[in-house]
Amino acid sequence: MPGHEELPVPIYTALEPVYGAGSPSEEAEQRFGVLKAKFIEFYGHPPDCYARSPGRVNLIGEHIDYEGYSVLPMAIRQDTIVAIRKHGADEPEKLLRIGNVNQKYAICTYPADPDQVIDLKNHKWGHYFICGYKGFYEYARSNGIDVGVPVGLDVLIDGTVPTGSGLSSSAAFVCSSTIAIMASFGVSIKKKELAQLACECERHIGTQSGGMDQAISIMAQSGFAELIDFNPIRSTDVQLPSGGSFVIAHSLAESQKAVTAAVNYNNRVVECRLASIVLGIKLGMDSREAISKVKTLSDVEGLCVSFASARGSSDPVIAVKELLKEDPYSAEDIEKIIEEKLQTIFANSPSSLDVLEAANNFKLHQRAAHVYSEAKRVYEFKDTVSSSISEEEKLKKLGDLMNESHYSCSVLYECSCPELEELVKICRDNGALGARLTGAGWGGCAVALVKESHIPHFILNLKDQFYQSRIDKGVINKSDLGMYLFASNPSSGAAIFKF
Ligand code: GLA
Repeated sequence: MPGHEELPVPIYTALEPVYGAGSPSEEAEQRFGVLKAKFIEFYGHPPDCYARSPGRVNLIGEHIDYEGYSVLPMAIRQDTIVAIRKHGADEPEKLLRIGNVNQKYAICTYPADPDQVIDLKNHKWGHYFICGYKGFYEYARSNGIDVGVPVGLDVLIDGTVPTGSGLSSSAAFVCSSTIAIMASFGVSIKKKELAQLACECERHIGTQSGGMDQAISIMAQSGFAELIDFNPIRSTDVQLPSGGSFVIAHSLAESQKAVTAAVNYNNRVVECRLASIVLGIKLGMDSREAISKVKTLSDVEGLCVSFASARGSSDPVIAVKELLKEDPYSAEDIEKIIEEKLQTIFANSPSSLDVLEAANNFKLHQRAAHVYSEAKRVYEFKDTVSSSISEEEKLKKLGDLMNESHYSCSVLYECSCPELEELVKICRDNGALGARLTGAGWGGCAVALVKESHIPHFILNLKDQFYQSRIDKGVINKSDLGMYLFASNPSSGAAIFKF
């Protein structure tokens, strides 16, 4: 039987298969009702169909997907729903109109031209829809699918994934947009192809993100976390041990991945590439060969492991420790080793050139040590889950791995921030088995593994010790606390609805 990633996104005529029976479906029913009524109010017609895609929380495996390594996230119930109507070719107005049920987001209008350039210097929320739109046309062209002349689209969005939270509101938006566009053009592809496409779509926003967020949003299965592998994308269901649950808590520092890419996210992608080229050369590759062939740290892992095995170990971090200096490298230091200008290496990547312009130096040792050690923790996490030790012991071991992951993110990868550090400490002080930042970091959420029976108490304590002072200062409203602090079980992935 083919894995579910070989199948297309499912189409439903009812909400229950996705949202579950009882009150979650009733709530969803209300949301869809409001969305449809507003759609008619905005555009004078009902939508043709709806697509939804969830946010995610990454349990372990941070900043390693773009280096080719497997990660282990789960989908959360918060999602983005896109309602869409495709105009006929005879309708005169050829515009993409993108509205939002949340009045905070003013309607955005774009031409129907799929070759339009997204104005990255002028960041607008509607850009994420255009990422999906451009990606869809690129896909259709490269696969010889005739989708006719560009026509107008009426679109209305309803999103519940908090933005800037590290819970992938952007991927939920890009995936649901891409799926809605495909559904309205009558094009259907396998989930694994769609995950790859949605990842490429999101790069139009200027972040060089890996494929984790889109893959989990599209391929999640209710009740399971997923081990996501890349090249090719594949997902394996992971049944988490009983007796523990994940609590997600927002640090209230907004993480704006796209806006800060040149100094944060894309900077780390560039540092990893440079670390892998330098390692390749130090491990015997010719510099021309290393520059042209080595793209990620996973490309030189084999060489690092051979180096380590000559020293009685199988840990690639040994090579990092011996071959990359701990002090930051200047651009000149690296250019001397690789015998090439950094600008030349990244000449075809404007977002990487922005990184070079903004960077003073490059911490190759620390970034590579994080990536190799984090990749190993993902497998330890997966192996612990499927081992024969007691559920209690499993939870403890998973918590330890989460704590180690946080340390590595914070100290080696430097993607934490003071608010996340405070929050992670409070989680641990209140009995979390493990707690770590989740997603890109530099703000956004922490995820804590907590014994199920402790959850109500744990949430109350976090409220007192982290959120109350912020409520008092007016940073958030007391009535919104449930959006920032909640327990979550693994939810289901993307879906199309036609009612
Ligand atoms: C963001 C990216 C992902 C991944 C995480 C960090 O969410 O979109 O691809 O790199 O950061 O693990």
